[in-house]
Amino acid sequence: MIAKIEQLLKEVEALKASNAEELEALRIKFLSKKGAINDLMADFRNVPAELKKEVGMRLNELKDKAQDKINVLKEQFENQDNSCDGLDLTRSAYPIKLGTRHPLTIVKNEVIDIFARLGFSIAEGPEIEDDWHVFSALNFAEDHPARDMQDTFFIEAQPDVVLRTHTSSVQSRVMEVTQPPIRIICPGRVYRNEAISYRAHCFFHQVEALYIDKDVSFTDLKQVLLLFAKEMFGADTKIRLRPSYFPFTEPSAEMDISCNICGGKGCPFCKHTGWVEILGCGMVDPNVLKANGIDSKVYSGYALGMGIERITNLKYQVKDLRMFSENDTRFLKEFEAAY
Ligand code: DAH
Repeated sequence: MIAKIEQLLKEVEALKASNAEELEALRIKFLSKKGAINDLMADFRNVPAELKKEVGMRLNELKDKAQDKINVLKEQFENQDNSCDGLDLTRSAYPIKLGTRHPLTIVKNEVIDIFARLGFSIAEGPEIEDDWHVFSALNFAEDHPARDMQDTFFIEAQPDVVLRTHTSSVQSRVMEVTQPPIRIICPGRVYRNEAISYRAHCFFHQVEALYIDKDVSFTDLKQVLLLFAKEMFGADTKIRLRPSYFPFTEPSAEMDISCNICGGKGCPFCKHTGWVEILGCGMVDPNVLKANGIDSKVYSGYALGMGIERITNLKYQVKDLRMFSENDTRFLKEFEAAY
C-alpha cells in the first residue's frame, strides 16, 4: 500500500492541466468519492495494526498534496484575464498599412553601411550654419570666386548666418574639437538658392566623408572610392578620376563610375560617354587642417562628398528630382521592396 501511495504522490506532483475541464477530470480522478485516494482510504481497514500509523500519515499527506495541487492549478485559471481589459475595441479590424522608407533614406543608409564597415562613424552638424564653418574654415577666401559656386541662402538679418550649402561644414565642426585620427561620415540636408525644376532643387542631401591620420595618401582615397563604387553599384563597376577644383582639397578630383544603366557601352543617360559623375573628392588642403587646429606637418587626410539624390537616381532612375519631396505615396510605395 505504501508503494501505491508513493506512486500516487509522484503523479500528483507532476499534475498539469491546460484548461478547467482537464482540471475537473483530475479532481475526479484523485479526490472524488470514487477517486484513487478514496479507494485507498477504503483499503485502509485491511492494513495491519502495526503499520496503520505510518500508512495513515502517508495517506493524509497524499490527500493534502492532491488538494493543494488542484487548488494551485485552479487559481492559475482563475487569474487568467478573460475580460476585455487591455483590448482596444476601437481599433480597426483591418490590418494597419505599413509605411515605406523614403528612397533617399534607403540609399543614405546603404552609403552609411558601406563606410561603417570601413570604420567610419557618423557625425552631424547644424543645417543653419555660420559663414566660418561653411566657407572660411574650408579655405574659401572672403572674395574668392568659389563662393559663387554655391548659391547660398543668407539669413537676412544676420549676414553671417547661412543655410549650409554642403555637408563639408561638418568636417570643420569635427576637426575643431577632435585631434586625428578622424574617420567620419556626415549625412545631411543642404540648401542652395536654385530655381526648382526636374533637375535642381533648393534643398537636397549629401554624404561627406573625412579621414585624417598620419601618412594618409591619395592611394588610400582611391582604394576607398573603388570599394565604395563596387559595393554600391555592383562588382563590375569601374571608376575614373578627373582633375577638378574645390577650395578645401588639393589635389581635387571628380569621380565617374562606368554607367550602371548601359554597363559603359553608352546610352542617353550617360550621354553616350559610358561614364556618369557621382562625387567630388581630394586630399584635405593643409590650409583647412591649419584653420581647424590640426598640425598639417604631422597629419594628412582625404575628403569626399556626394549627393544622395544623384546616387538614388542612378540606382532607381528617378527622372524628376521633385518627386523626392512631394510625398506622393504611389511613388514612395515603389520602394517598398528595396530594403
Ligand atoms: N562640398 C562639395 C559640394 O557640395 C562636395 C565635395 C567635393 C566634398 C570634394 C568633399 C570634397 O569633401 O573633397 O559640391
